Amino acid sequence: MKFSSFAEVIQFAVKREEEAARNYGKLLKMAKEQASRKLVEDLRKDEENHKKILLGLTKVKVDAAASKHVRDLKISDYLVAEPLTPDMNFQDLLIFAAKKEKKAVDLYTSLANKARKREQKKLFEFLAKQEKSHKLRLEIEYERHVLWED
Ligand SMILES: [Fe+2]
Ligand SMILES: [Fe+2]
Repeated sequence: MKFSSFAEVIQFAVKREEEAARNYGKLLKMAKEQASRKLVEDLRKDEENHKKILLGLTKVKVDAAASKHVRDLKISDYLVAEPLTPDMNFQDLLIFAAKKEKKAVDLYTSLANKARKREQKKLFEFLAKQEKSHKLRLEIEYERHVLWED
C-alpha cells in the first residue's frame, strides 16, 4: 500500500471500517442464538466506533487499552475461508470474519510501524489491538459452535 498523505491513510481505513460494520450487519441476520447475536452486534458497534475514532470524533483511552495483551488462538489462520455466499452457515461466516479481522490487524500494525508521529502510532496500535480482540472473540465463538455440533 502506498499513501501520499495521512489523510489518505485515514480515508482508506475508514472505508475498511465501514465495510467491516456492513459485514457484521449481514452476519447479524444469520445469527440465531442470543449469545451469537450479542457478539456480532458488539463487533458491529466497535467497527462503527473505529470509524469515529479515525475521523477524530471520539477520543480513545489509548494508553490503558494498548497495555493489555490479546491472545491469538490462530484457529482461523489454518482454515480455508469459503467465498461469501447466501447459503453459508454461521461457522463458515465466523471464519470469514476472523480472517477479515486478521487483515485489519495486519493493516493497523503496518500503519503503526510506519507512523511518524507518536500520536498516530498510538492510534493505530490501539486499533490493531481492538481488531486482534475481535479475531479472538470470533475464534472463541467458532470453537463453541464446533464443540456443540454433534
Ligand atoms: Fe475496526
Ligand atoms: Fe474488527
